[in-house]
Amino acid sequence: TIVARNHDEIVSIGPKGYIFPRKFREMAAEIYNMEVKPTDVYVFSYPRSGTTWTQELVWLVVNDLDYETASKIPLTDRYPFLEGPMFINDSTKQKLLDGNKGNESNAKDIQNVVKSAVELVNEMPSPRFIKTHLPLSLLPPKALEAKMVYVARDPRDAIVSFYHLIDSMKLANFNGDFKQFWTIKNYQSWSPYFDNVKEAWEMRNHPNLLFLFYEDMKKDLKSSVRRVCDFFGKKYSDDQIAKLCDHLTFDNFKNNPSVNFDLMKKIGLMHTDKEFVRKGKTGGWREYFDEEMTAEADKWIEENLRDTDLRFPSMQ
Ligand code: A3P
Repeated sequence: TIVARNHDEIVSIGPKGYIFPRKFREMAAEIYNMEVKPTDVYVFSYPRSGTTWTQELVWLVVNDLDYETASKIPLTDRYPFLEGPMFINDSTKQKLLDGNKGNESNAKDIQNVVKSAVELVNEMPSPRFIKTHLPLSLLPPKALEAKMVYVARDPRDAIVSFYHLIDSMKLANFNGDFKQFWTIKNYQSWSPYFDNVKEAWEMRNHPNLLFLFYEDMKKDLKSSVRRVCDFFGKKYSDDQIAKLCDHLTFDNFKNNPSVNFDLMKKIGLMHTDKEFVRKGKTGGWREYFDEEMTAEADKWIEENLRDTDLRFPSMQ
């Protein structure tokens, strides 16, 4: 029963057994077979690793620091969420429509949540920006002909943040505490965590893949911004980079309606007293883990890092 947390049923896909709601099965082939253009830009990650933050950074770097357009068009419209509609089954759709009856201004937002993201991507002019949490093995085999930016975060912080996200989603049907969530972490969509991260890590030296760590961005955003600029062949002055870093600070981000997901509250997907851009800290997991969970996490991390040279900045 625990695995049926917020879905009709979950399925395990691909040789690594990634977990998804059943609806993903209908979408997997459409995504795997979608067209890849060399100008496409993917921002991808395991959930709650700093995806939104990285998306805004990448979009601005690629689009000549066009703050005006970035403020007018919500990030969710600038970047279709490839597998996002897998959460919108018929009953969810009905609930959304019922909840927004008579509210014409929300109709377009609901359409964008419900419509196949591949369709949305196909309608976009180039460069097309794509958000996904899918691991490389479930993306089009030619995806590395596009530009891909992966962001990884200490799994303990990502999972605490994931718990808060689930807690904030109206249709998630999870009333447990963090300790319970921790025990079912491997049954959350896009898990197992380490396979997701390691697939990208293995490709980190590929010329079309840039691998970032959330912790590095927190510690020295300027350096990460410069890496993104180099990756996309963009040159900006020190002042321009300083302005971009300021735009991306946690406080500015939290108050920026174009990126802070308040839209989800507007259409009734998210509780109004919860925040998508929540704390923005590293190491916050310590407040949530008791001794037993800390030991479990140590073991889990140790076992999964044994066969790789992946090392997290927060663990050095
Ligand atoms: P917390 O829940 O720990 O605060 P994603 O976009 O992948 O879902 O990641 C969400 C996490 O990134 C959240 O973590 C959120 O607060 C954090 N985040 C978003 N914008 C940020 C920013 N500008 N600076 C630092 N962290 C940010």
